[in-house]
Parts: sequence; C-alpha cells; structure tokens
Amino acid sequence: MKLLTLLTTSFLCFSHATAAIISPPYANTTIPCFFSGSTGFDRLSKRNSSCTNIILSNLLVPAGVTLNLNNLKPGTTVTFKGKTTFPYLPTGWSGPLLSISSSSNLTIRGLPGSSLYGSGEFYWDGLGQNGPIPKPKFFQVHKLVDSVIEGVKIVNNPMHVFSINGCRNLMVRGVTVDNKAADGDWNAGKGGRNTDAFDIGQSSEVRIEGARVWNQDDCVAVNSGTNITFCNGLCSGGHGLSIGSVGGRSDNTVRNVLFENSVIANSENGARIKTKHSTTGLVSNITYRNIVLQNITKYGIVVDQSYSPPTKNAPPTNGVPITGFTLVNVTGNVLPTGTNIFVNCGDGSCKQWDWQGVEVKGGKKSSKCLRVPAGSWC
Ligand SMILES: *[C@@H]1O[C@H](CO)[C@@H](O)[C@H](O)[C@H]1NC(C)=O
Ligand SMILES: *[C@@H]1O[C@H](CO)[C@@H](O)[C@H](O)[C@H]1NC(C)=O
Ligand SMILES: *[C@@H]1O[C@H](CO)[C@@H](O)[C@H](O)[C@H]1NC(C)=O
Ligand SMILES: *[C@@H]1O[C@H](CO)[C@@H](O)[C@H](O)[C@H]1NC(C)=O
Ligand SMILES: *[C@@H]1O[C@H](CO)[C@@H](O)[C@H](O)[C@H]1NC(C)=O
Ligand SMILES: *[C@@H]1O[C@H](CO)[C@@H](O)[C@H](O)[C@H]1NC(C)=O
Ligand SMILES: *[C@@H]1O[C@H](CO)[C@@H](O)[C@H](O)[C@H]1NC(C)=O
Repeated sequence: MKLLTLLTTSFLCFSHATAAIISPPYANTTIPCFFSGSTGFDRLSKRNSSCTNIILSNLLVPAGVTLNLNNLKPGTTVTFKGKTTFPYLPTGWSGPLLSISSSSNLTIRGLPGSSLYGSGEFYWDGLGQNGPIPKPKFFQVHKLVDSVIEGVKIVNNPMHVFSINGCRNLMVRGVTVDNKAADGDWNAGKGGRNTDAFDIGQSSEVRIEGARVWNQDDCVAVNSGTNITFCNGLCSGGHGLSIGSVGGRSDNTVRNVLFENSVIANSENGARIKTKHSTTGLVSNITYRNIVLQNITKYGIVVDQSYSPPTKNAPPTNGVPITGFTLVNVTGNVLPTGTNIFVNCGDGSCKQWDWQGVEVKGGKKSSKCLRVPAGSWC
C-alpha cells in the first residue's frame, strides 16, 4: 500500500481530479460499426446514433462538413484508425471539423499510428482568424461529461484545435497536436496563427495528461472553469501555458488550475495570466509546478491585468483579481531579446502570491513592472 502511494505520487501528476476519472474497459462489448473511406461517411450519417462501438477507419469527411458525433449513446467508444481526412474548402468555413458533444461516459481514442488531418497547410496565411476567408476550428468537445479522449493525433490544424466547453470530468490523455509545418513567418504572410491547442471554458475536473503540442498560439488557454490540470506535457513553438484572457465573457471565473511537470520550449511565453482591461471576474488558486522553460522569446513569466486595452498603453485594472498564484520549481531560459518576468497588476488586485524555486534567466529584467505583490518579484 505504501509503495503504491509512493509510485503514484512520484510518477503521476497528482491532483484533485484523479479519483473521479473513469477508466474505460476497451473490450468489445458490442458489435462494432465500422465506417471506412468516403462511403463510410455516408453510411455513418444513418447509423452513428445507434452504434455504441464506432470504428472510423481512414475516413474521408467531405470538405466543409462537420464530422458530427454529437448526442452519442452514453458509454459509446469511438475509435480512429488510420488517417481521417478533413479536406480543404477553398471558400473557407468556420467548422468545426469534428464535434463530439452532448453525451457522457464516452471513450474517444486514436489507435497508434492514426491521425486526424486538417489540411491546414492550404489555409495558413499568417493571419489566423483575421484572414480573407474563415478557417475551420477543429475539435469541438462541448457538454461532455465523465469521458476520456486518448491517443488522438491532430495534424495540420487550420486554426484552434480543442474547444472544451461545458464539460465535467473529462480526461484527455496522450494527445498530440502536430502543427510544426505551420511555423512560417507571419510577417511574410505565412504560417499558422490562432492555432491554440486547448481552449477551456466553463468546465470542471478536466485533466490533460501527457499532451505533446507543436503550434503557434496558446498551448493551453483557460478562460473559465474549475479544477483543471495539465501535466506531463510538452508545449513547443506557441504562446505557452495560459490563464485567460479572463473577463468580458459570460463566465469569468477561473479557479484551481494546476500546470505540472511540463516543458515549454521555443515559445513566446512560459507561464502567463492575462486579464482584460476594465472587466470583472476572478482568477484564484493557480499553480505552476516543476515547469522547465527553454528558449522563451517574449516573457518567461507574465501577468498582465491590462490585456487587450481599448487604447494602447492602457493601465492595468483591478476588476479581475488574481488571488493565489503559486509557482514552485519553475526554471529555465529566456532568449536575450526577451524578458524574464513581467508583472503588471491593478490596484490591490494581486494577492497571496507565493513563488518558490523560480529561476528564469537569460532575458532582460523588466523596468515596467507595476504593483508586484509580496511573495513574488520582477
Ligand atoms: C474542485 O476541487 C475541490 C477540491 O478538491 C472540490 O472541493 C470541489 O468540489 C471541486 N469543484 C468542482 C466544481 O468540481
Ligand atoms: C474487437 O473488434 C475488432 C473489430 O471487429 C476486432 O478486430 C478485435 O480483434 C476485437 N478485439 C477483441 C479484444 O475482441
Ligand atoms: C449522426 O447522427 C445524427 C442524428 O441522426 C446526425 O444529425 C449527424 O449528422 C450524424 N453524423 C454524421 C457524421 O453523419
Ligand atoms: C460507461 O460505459 C461502459 C461501457 O463503455 C459501461 O461498462 C459502464 O457501466 C458505463 N458507466 C456508467 C457510469 O454509465
Ligand atoms: C488549489 O488548487 C490545488 C490544485 O493545484 C488543489 O489541490 C487545492 O485543493 C486547491 N485549493 C482550494 C482551496 O480549493
Ligand atoms: C523541478 O522540476 C524538474 C522538471 O519537472 C524536475 O526534474 C525536478 O526534479 C524538480 N525539482 C524538484 C526539487 O522537485
Ligand atoms: C535553444 O537555443 C539554443 C541556441 O540557439 C539551441 O542550441 C538549443 O538547441 C535550443 N533549445 C531548444 C530546446 O530548442
């Protein structure tokens, strides 16, 4: 018993969400419904809501159409095999390419070697959501409870990947977002932008374990929600592990978030909290623990309460307090052109911060920090 406890705490990232996560049996308890290629997609439209064991093998989804797996029967398993293709639509559309929403107790899994291919290279123009045609979002996971998504590999996403909203008790395990091919020069009108890997809102007990992400925007962005854990992850090329931007939405509370045992490499930021200028809300109990930063280009650690100001250089405001911001063992390097730490707090709105073992080096020391609270530094 003691050994088990030890193993659990040293090798897994422990959190409050662990106990609640179900571990699905992968036995073939029901006869599978097997859909393959483009004819498979047509058949799927008639059968999907009656099947509880759906296998999608090298599925070809028509361009401009959502692979709609909403309202599946509780307990359904969806298995992706081979390459699922979402072709380019030249006139553009906003997606999502795939939606698995409004159900419970689902297991969504990608078999080894499988991928969901989004044809992003035909969309990337360095402009993201501000381009001349809309680009599809990828994977909508809304109102899904007590479910597991695992082993799924996303390749060449046009824009945002996972939109997790209104979910409860969701485990996302061993997922890869490979958007390396979109690392083009934005100034030259190339590359992926707004390619967030995980956007999380209005959800609780969400656990993202062992994700590997190569993208060009937030690796994780938590806009609202409670009890969210991201651990054993790798984030490369993007904007880091972020809370926010918080404020100005229908839900503006972020509570109990843990980022643990993860590497953030070649990214604009490492740890980031951004709250919107002149809005209200609450950011409470945020922890980054055992985080390694490598070659960060803008800010190793950044808290900005003036985000998205109506006018340039607007001051930080205090309507979205950041209460309880813990950093433990956050180390690594910022490139010389970047800044190690930047803290820009409103009047009285940054409280109960506790930083231990924070060593972020290599970048500049900011001279613009404002109202740096006790327990932290700049
Ligand atoms: C979040 O976790 C805390 C601590 O484990 C627990 O008391 C609380 O009920 C959880 N909240 C939600 C919304 O699940
Ligand atoms: C599950 O079903 C699939 C498809 O029919 C089959 O290939 C596989 O061998 C089955 N696995 C088990 C454990 O029965
Ligand atoms: C799955 O079934 C639902 C309900 O019949 C339908 O609305 C949806 O379009 C189907 N999905 C696909 C991919 O055809
Ligand atoms: C969840 O689905 C599995 C089948 O995949 C079933 O064995 C289990 O009883 C279901 N659990 C709940 C809580 O419905
Ligand atoms: C704060 O968040 C941690 C996870 O990082 C959680 O274990 C703890 O229960 C939370 N504290 C409170 C008071 O909810
Ligand atoms: C600090 O974090 C690194 C990276 O996760 C880990 O290897 C190291 O053991 C941690 N150090 C302590 C004292 O926990
Ligand atoms: C960080 O930059 C240095 C110098 O350019 C390079 O040698 C190193 O490989 C980079 N590290 C990563 C993780 O890319």
